[in-house]
Amino acid sequence: MAGSEPINVADYERLAERRLEPGAHGYFAGGAGAERTLRDNVAAFGRRRLRPRVLVDVSRVSTATTVLGTPVSMPLLVAPVAFQRLVDPDGEVAMARAAAAVGTAMCLSTLATSRPSEVAAGAPPGPRWFQLYCFRDRGVTRALIEEAVEHGFDAIVLTVDAPRAGRRERDLRTGFALPADVSAPAVAAAVGSEEPITVKEVFDLVDPALEWDDFAALASDCRLPIVLKGVQTAEDGRLAVDHGAAAIVVSNHGGRQLDGVPASLDLLGEVVEAVAGRREVLVDGGVRRGSDVAVALALGARAVLAGRAPLWGLAVDGERGARRVLEILRSELELALTLLGCSSPDAVTAEHVRREPIFD
Ligand SMILES: Cc1cc2nc3c(=O)[nH]c(=O)nc-3n(C[C@H](O)[C@H](O)[C@H](O)COP(=O)(O)O)c2cc1C
Repeated sequence: MAGSEPINVADYERLAERRLEPGAHGYFAGGAGAERTLRDNVAAFGRRRLRPRVLVDVSRVSTATTVLGTPVSMPLLVAPVAFQRLVDPDGEVAMARAAAAVGTAMCLSTLATSRPSEVAAGAPPGPRWFQLYCFRDRGVTRALIEEAVEHGFDAIVLTVDAPRAGRRERDLRTGFALPADVSAPAVAAAVGSEEPITVKEVFDLVDPALEWDDFAALASDCRLPIVLKGVQTAEDGRLAVDHGAAAIVVSNHGGRQLDGVPASLDLLGEVVEAVAGRREVLVDGGVRRGSDVAVALALGARAVLAGRAPLWGLAVDGERGARRVLEILRSELELALTLLGCSSPDAVTAEHVRREPIFD
């Protein structure tokens, strides 16, 4: 590949590792503990095999679909990933431009280095979600929601798998710390701080006492639909529906929280079954190929989110790199759908994947 254009996500991942300094690379690439879950998220896709059908008219194939009723060019959305200015000077604004150019939704992190207002001003309109942590001070939580509402965001994604940050050993080894000019301005503004706020300070503000009734109250007060991110069991899938979640993201936070939980792909089935069609179920963790998206659809996901994949694109070539990664994933998915005998994401069913995973 030396000297030539990257052609897949793995190429971008290798180039990003070369480009970033070790502390920042470890922050984005790493997971919690022994990184078993981090590795398994990717490996789980390798355990699945597709079941193509032949003699189906695939002369016209579209990857377009809807998520929460919003049209998107493909069932792959950009996951919330914190501190994107660590890899590119335009950070989340560049990522939002890339997502808009490709016609898919971007989810902006609470810990983004650009506020919702800056993203709205700096990128063309496009489907956009805002990821939220629920703070002990509900006034701060409400202020963050208000900024997202005011700037045209379409949904709130409440992340509930991080009452505390996981123990990320790579960061401990590299001594990674945010540079002075990188922080979370939306949180700083919501708490009324003039000073940049550190990651530790943000997590100290997050409410570890949050329970289902609090979630229900938040969901009923909020003017936007609330998507619940970080569900990993059938029980919590049911509770999410009962307490007002508009949709569910099966996620283990990219292996960055509780190490030792299964790959999110391996949990998708039980959550889909428990939710029983009452809500859309999305999944994230380990998506590196368009064919991974096809596998997730076959296992019942409405769409996937990708965190590191577009981030590597952003690190390698800014907005253009993020856009290229999204385009590569979309064209890989289009080819996978065609060869599966599916003319659209909706045509993918449980019959398109082998029932049992393969352990080789
Ligand atoms: C460096 C990094 C920062 C992240 N920051 C957030 C965040 O601020 N909020 C959140 O809900 N999820 C966050 N996530 C988790 C992602 O939204 C997503 O669940 C995960 O990256 C999916 O796995 P993948 O990277 O293998 O696609 C982060 C992930 C990474 C890698």
